[in-house]
Amino acid sequence: MKLYKIAVLPGDGIGPEVTKEAVKVLNKLSEIDSRFYFETKEFNWNSEYYLQHRRMMPENGLEQLKKFDAILFGAIGDPRVPDPVSIWELILPIRKQFQQYVNLRPIKLLRGLENPLKQEVPVDFVIIRENSEGEYINSGGLMFEGEKREMAVHNTVMTRQGIRNIAEFAYEYARENGLSKLTNATKSNVMSYTMTFWDQVVEEVAAQNKNIAYEKYYIDALAAYFVQRPESFHIVLASNLFGDILSDLGSAIVGGLGIAPSGNINPKGTFPSMFEPVHGSAPNIAGKGIANPMAQIWSAALMLDHLGRKDLHDAILRSIEEVLMEKKVLTPDIGGNASTVEVGNAIISKLKME
Ligand code: NAD
Ligand code: IPM
Ligand code: MN
Repeated sequence: MKLYKIAVLPGDGIGPEVTKEAVKVLNKLSEIDSRFYFETKEFNWNSEYYLQHRRMMPENGLEQLKKFDAILFGAIGDPRVPDPVSIWELILPIRKQFQQYVNLRPIKLLRGLENPLKQEVPVDFVIIRENSEGEYINSGGLMFEGEKREMAVHNTVMTRQGIRNIAEFAYEYARENGLSKLTNATKSNVMSYTMTFWDQVVEEVAAQNKNIAYEKYYIDALAAYFVQRPESFHIVLASNLFGDILSDLGSAIVGGLGIAPSGNINPKGTFPSMFEPVHGSAPNIAGKGIANPMAQIWSAALMLDHLGRKDLHDAILRSIEEVLMEKKVLTPDIGGNASTVEVGNAIISKLKME
């Protein structure tokens, strides 16, 4: 029997509500097929932990996480703790220290979901977001505080190696998945140092992959094209911040944040990868039991794909789609009136191996 050890960090707000449903799915899979078993261990490193210990995770937190095959993350963010604290002390150190330099975010209109744009087109592409540097560098400062010339600076760092790594991953992903076009999201018309360098290095990698079409759009126009012709994209390659923004927009054109999954991937396998929904802790609906667990459950499916179990990934997606097609048990964000737990149970009841 193959044992997979999964660290579960439910986090804050709706995080614990939706991760609970994803863990139920893992348990059910272990039950269906005795050839594998998912052992989950929960870590309560969240804003409540911070309020007690003045840190988001223990000093040896990363050491503890290293021992797992993968991490399933809910979301963090609590009005009692400043967002930059929870983010820079938990989620970003994991992404950076575990060299999860790829953030993979599928934008796919699942069967059973109405196209929110009312277009009769299939939408199925992936955002590949640089996940370790770029605009997400904790470097900068406030200067001349209290003076008239007071100012703030936040640095962006793009390294040749960092850009090459993500571009090479994107082309490899295209080859492996039979995708024939890559779209580069840029802003080199204005950001003449960082984004011009980004384009240059991406295009060096593009030149080595001539069988895959390459196009480049400025991020502002690209945002409009996401809405006007989403069917035209296969892979959208983006820097850290651009990929962040495009992924919430991308979720909105296929049903919203309640559905959108993501994987923070360390392609070399030197440290565990981490899987989490695109959405945050949604304090506005936390505790009401109405959060959509599909994004979290789909993220768990991406985790299983990453662990080499595409069969299980596909089984989960089929179950989600069955529930969507029946249109009976849906949370309010996608037009239903069911609870988080009811949707989780409905997905679990459909799970079967082909
Ligand atoms: P959010 O994604 O939490 O919520 C945006 C909107 O989407 C809200 O209206 C919310 O109700 C809705 N929504 C999100 N997930 C949903 C779900 N599963 N089902 C139904 N509706 C859902 O973004 P925000 O409000 O900008 O941020 C809230 C907090 O989350 C902040 O503290 C932010 O820093 C944090 N955040 C954390 C992560 C993460 O941990 N990965 C990601 C994004 C935001
Ligand atoms: C996301 C979130 C994170 C990001 C935050 C919580 C650091 O918005 O995963 O999209 O900006 O990457
Ligand atoms: Mn985001």
